Formats: sequence, structure tokens, C-alpha cells
Amino acid sequence: MNWIIRENGFDKERIAANGNKFMIGNGYMGYRGTLDEFARSELTATIPAGLYDKVGDQWREPINAPNGLSTRIVCDGKPLSVLELEPLAHEQELDIRHGVHRRKTVYPAADGRTVTVESERFCSMERLHLLANRVSVTCSKPSELIITTGIDGQVWDINGPHLERMESAEQEDTLTLTGWTHELNMPVSVGHTLACLFGERRSLALDHFLGREIRLAAQAGETYTFVTYVSVFTGLDGEADCAAAAAEASREAAAAGYESLLAEHAARWERKWKLSDVRIEGDDEAQLALRYSLYQLHIIAPGHSEKLSIPARGLSGQVYKGAVFWDTEMFMLPFFLYTQPSIARNLMMYRVHTLDGARRKAAEYGYAGAFYAWESQETGDDACTLFNVNDVFTGRPMRTYFRDKQVHISADVAYGIWQYFIFTGDDSILLDGGAEAVLECARFFYSYAYYNPYRSRYEILDVTGPDEYHERVNNNAFTNAMAKRCLNIALEVLAYLQDKYPGLAKSLTAGGRIATEQLRDMHDRLYIPQPAEGSGVIEQFDRYFALEDVTLAQLKSRILNRHEYLGGGNGLATTTQILKQADVVLMLHLFKDEYSRGMKRSNWEYYEPRTEHGSSLSYCIYALVAADIGLSDWAYPYFKRTATIDLTGDSKQYVGDLYIGGTHPAANGGAWMAAVLGFAGLRFDGQAVTIAPSLPAAWRAVSFPLQLRGAGFIVTIETGQVRVEASEDNQAAMEFRIERRNDAGDRESAMVAPGQHMSFSYK
Ligand code: BGC
Repeated sequence: MNWIIRENGFDKERIAANGNKFMIGNGYMGYRGTLDEFARSELTATIPAGLYDKVGDQWREPINAPNGLSTRIVCDGKPLSVLELEPLAHEQELDIRHGVHRRKTVYPAADGRTVTVESERFCSMERLHLLANRVSVTCSKPSELIITTGIDGQVWDINGPHLERMESAEQEDTLTLTGWTHELNMPVSVGHTLACLFGERRSLALDHFLGREIRLAAQAGETYTFVTYVSVFTGLDGEADCAAAAAEASREAAAAGYESLLAEHAARWERKWKLSDVRIEGDDEAQLALRYSLYQLHIIAPGHSEKLSIPARGLSGQVYKGAVFWDTEMFMLPFFLYTQPSIARNLMMYRVHTLDGARRKAAEYGYAGAFYAWESQETGDDACTLFNVNDVFTGRPMRTYFRDKQVHISADVAYGIWQYFIFTGDDSILLDGGAEAVLECARFFYSYAYYNPYRSRYEILDVTGPDEYHERVNNNAFTNAMAKRCLNIALEVLAYLQDKYPGLAKSLTAGGRIATEQLRDMHDRLYIPQPAEGSGVIEQFDRYFALEDVTLAQLKSRILNRHEYLGGGNGLATTTQILKQADVVLMLHLFKDEYSRGMKRSNWEYYEPRTEHGSSLSYCIYALVAADIGLSDWAYPYFKRTATIDLTGDSKQYVGDLYIGGTHPAANGGAWMAAVLGFAGLRFDGQAVTIAPSLPAAWRAVSFPLQLRGAGFIVTIETGQVRVEASEDNQAAMEFRIERRNDAGDRESAMVAPGQHMSFSYK
């Protein structure tokens, strides 16, 4: 039961939210959870990963492919659409175990008759270009049906339309519709094969619609079922002829048949869950929400390409320009590192492939090395504009400093690459460009830093930290700590290369680009804001404590327009201590060994009431730090909020006049982190696994699989006991340490050999 997401009844107001909630996808593309009869105004979208376009001087964004799953049914002259006819019953559901979307709608017809429309679709995990859709209609009395099914070329765009010169083709039973993007002239083709054994069928080529019409006199009680096999190809796929490739893929799928395609797709999903499912006993709601979060990550994970990462809104549309943010490294990467390291590698290789864009950005601002894009698309050039939000009062664009000043992004990238190497021991990532990327990030910080001669220390001035409401601040604790970590990683990378690949070390440091001494000097003398004496609170940035100390309620009472932006030059939060999202507290999570429990608690207690949680990235961090200090009851509501964000659809939809709705992969990754790294207290340092449980009161047990250094494990935590099962296929034993969350930090540890099951007590 804990695999089904369902909504009963149709509510027009939920069209956008349900489009996100009921999404399907496979990392190659995402398909929004809209209904068969929906069109552009209901935000239908098929988003292929990594293909961007720019129209005129509008923002670059992903393209939305023609909608191959459009089906409209007319019964005795009346359109069967939830938008036009109030249904007697309507149900939409998602089977997250196998990635299958279903809808069932019962419509009223004349004389007390009913017509039932059911459809089922999936985006194949096995055949990345394929969407399959099975539609059935049943009339309670004889009726005349006209079914139109095909490819709708008119799609929802924020800054489009992106496809021009639409061309259609028909070959035997297969139709293709191809359009070309404005900027790069990239083809996008959708192929459509219909398998239908009833009715009178004819082809339809209307303006922006290519499909088939099926007419039939339906018998009472008879169910009429047809299947459409839809394939999407783009110019990124390297095919000589996209339309031909799409047609062929659709035809091949039709030859395989729906049931067998569904079976191969479901088998793929079973494998994904085997690697990643977290089982919770005693809390069904949390179980479903957490699984759903993992589902969302699986449908957008680029398992097939190292040129792709995951955009901040996944593949749910064009919001945030389909760009990749620090969200990937800091919020999603851990899930993949611990469960599917090959996907983690792809995510980090994307940063290697976009290094040149980061170099261009650094050079543009007069710095050395790599300054990664705040909003990264396929080339790594920054899609973030200088005016990223419009003022709701004047309608004027507001100058924001996300692009120029959120320098922590380069440290986040270096951190991600190093994490991948530590976790897997796979140094190919360093050799394939990861080492260079790390060194370039360190070089950037060296060129960005300010050496304060009076205090004999390096400082990092004029930055924007995670809390975007306070721009252009000095010595943001998080940014400084991450920059120091980046320098430390660069030193470790250099030491590793000098030892194992001296030639590479030499070439990367040739020509005086960067010297170990410089990195070490900055590393050793970089100022990190320390806990204040007495309170133990770390100041978020220089003079933060001098800002007006209002409560969140007071601040909210000053709001004049519910969409007004609280940061920037004139934002209400700018002059106060109210922060948008976890900032110091995020630092305490990332550098947990460097701070005592008492300090973490003081900072949590200080910053939480001042945090707006205006970003979906915030809650999970508060959950993680609360769990880290052993306060799982404090952590729990933050975990729940994170894990349910795309189920409830309860998140900010607008900033200024900018629509920011969509799915929230960072929160999805945050839900996994809160459960596994937080409540189970899991950590891996490349050598040993530490588990320090602090389960929520309702959780009787939690169990999850791990893939570490090529070895598989299943960890189960039950009251007072931790059980570790090592796969028989493992090559070597792994050290597991079970830690108690008391101040003494008592721990027990043991090597778990291949095939061994081991139990520890943790009271
Ligand atoms: C957050 C950023 C985040 C971005 C994309 C913003 O609202 O403040 O930290 O990277 O959304 O998710």
C-alpha cells in the first residue's frame, strides 16, 4: 500500500500542483502529471534533459517537446474533459514503485448513462526515449465516440515558443512531428505509433496537431482500449535523423507491446528500489513521503550521461531556467553517493565538462580559476541574470547579487568532486578533469580573497551566503568555512597526484598557476567566524548581530504584497536578522566534528526562530542538526515538511511576478539525508561507516541499503540494536562503528566481512 499516491475528485486549483506531484520520468525526460485531455494552458510538459533555447532577449530555458500524449474523446457530441464536464468520479494515482501514472474518470452522459475513461502511462526506465500510454473507454449504453489522439505541438512555455518550422511526417502506422529550436537550430522530434484494433481511423494533420481520429459506435459495457507509443529524440542524441530515430523507436516499442514494455520498465524500477529503498516501521506517512521523495530523485537522475546534472526544479518545467544550482552537490549528491555512485559520478562529471564556462565567468569578473555558474546550463556559462527578480510594486527588475556574489558555489563543486572520490576511491574522476576543476576552484578563492594586513589573516569580503536575503556581506561563516575546505581539498588532491601521478600534478601547477605554498598559506590563515563567548552563537557574517532583531511574525506583519521579495536592496529582511534559509546551521551540519553538541544546540536555538524557511532547502538542514544533537523530536517536523513538499504542493509559487513552482529535488534529497544521515546518524569517511541512531519516537525500525566502495550492505536499526548485513559479493570487510549520542560519544566497532551479518547494541 505504501507505494501509491492518489487524489480523488477533480479540483481545477490543483492542476499545476498535480502536474508536479504526478510526474513521471527517466532522467532523459520528464513528463508532467497532467491529464490526457489537457493542453498548454494546463501546463502540459515533456522536458528533455539538457536542451536549452533562447528566444529573442528572453531568458534561456529548457525546451518543452511537443506533447505526444494528447487524447481527447467526444461522446455523443460532448467532449469528455474534466475541464468541461463535472465528472461523477475522478481519480489520479501514481504507483511510485514502478513509475506508473493512472487516471480514471467517470463522466455523466445523457439519460443517466456513464462513460468511464481510464488511462495508464509510463516513461520507460529501460528505453529512455519512450513514453507509453494505454487508454480505455467504456460506455454504459451504446454511444458514438470520436477519439483524437496524437501529438500536440502547442505546449506551455515560459519564455518561448522555442520550436519553429514544425514538420510532420507519416510512415505506415507512425507519425512524427519535428520542430527546430531558435538559438541552436536543434531538432526535436516526437514519434507516435498507434495500436488500435477498433473503429474507423483516419490521420489528422491540423495546425499544431498531428494525430489520428478514431470513430466508433461503442457497445454498452464494452471496453475499448488503444495504446500509443511515443518517442522523443533531440539533436543532443547524436542521431543523423531525429525524426527517423523517433519513428523507429515508436515502431519498435509497438512491436514489443505494452505489457512487455511495462514489465521491463518495472524490472528496472525494482532494481532501483533494491539499491535505495528506505523502510520505516511504525510511521506510514513518513514511509510514503520518503519513498515519494526518492521516486522524484529517480525520475530525474541522469544515469545515462555525464553531461547532465539535475536542475533545481528537476524536469518539471522551465522554472529557474532549468538550471543546475548548488542544490545538486549539497542536497542531492549524498543520496546518490551512498546508493548509486555511478550516478553521483555523472553529476560531478557535469561540473568537469562545464569547467570552461566557470573559467569564463571568473575571468569576466577579473578573477583567476573557476567561478562556477550560480545557474548552470549546458555550457557552464551563467544563466543567472543581474536582475533576477522583479519588484512587485514598481514592476521594475531588481538588481540581485546571486550571480556575482554567491561564490560558495565553487567550493560546493570542489566538495562534491572530492566527496565522490573519497566515497568510491575512483580516482578516474580526478584524472578525467576533476583534479583540474578542484584546483581551479581553489585558485578562484585565492584570487577572490582579501588579505587583511592589520589582522594578518585572509578574509572573504562582499559575498552572498546561502541566506540570499543578505547580499554583499563580509566574512559569511559558511562561505569562509567552505572556501577553507576547498583549499584543503586542493591540497589533498595535489598531494595525491604528486604521490601517484606526479606528471599530472606538475602539468596542473605549471607556469606558476597556483603554488602549494599559496594554497596552504590561505588555508591556514583564512578567518573563520567563531562562536561568541558566552552564547556560543556564530555570527552569520560581520555585523549581522547589529541588524534589527525582529521576530518573523513582526517582519511578516510589515509585508504589503504577499509576493514581495524580502531580500535585495529594499527587502524587508535585508536590514533585519531574519534569514531566508539555513546558513550557519548548514555549516554546523557540514563541519559537525568541529563543533560541540552544546554549540550546535545554541546556534540551532538562535537561528531557527529567525529563519523564514523561504527556500525548500532549509528544513532538512534544521532536521539534520537537531538529529545530530540527539533531538529527534525537534528534527521530526522539519523532516516531515521536507519530505512532503511535492505531495502537498505547499511551497512558494511566486517571488515578485516570477513563477517558481515545480518539483523540489533538493528537498527530496534533503528528506533522504534527514532520515538516513540524520535519524540513523550514518556517515562514511571513505574508510569506516559510523552509525549514531536517534530515531523519531514513532519509528520502530528503519532499514536501508548502502553501496560503499563497491560493497553492498543493508543496515537495520531497531530499538537498541543495529544490524549490518554485508553482501556475499563484497570483496573486503568494512569497519562499522556504532556511536551513542551522548557527550562521551561511546562507540563500539567491528569489521563486517563479506556475507556476514552483525548486530550491535546502541542503548
Ligand atoms: C535558494 C537557493 C537555491 C535556489 C534553487 C533559492 O530560493 O535560496 O539556495 O539554490 O532557490 O533551488
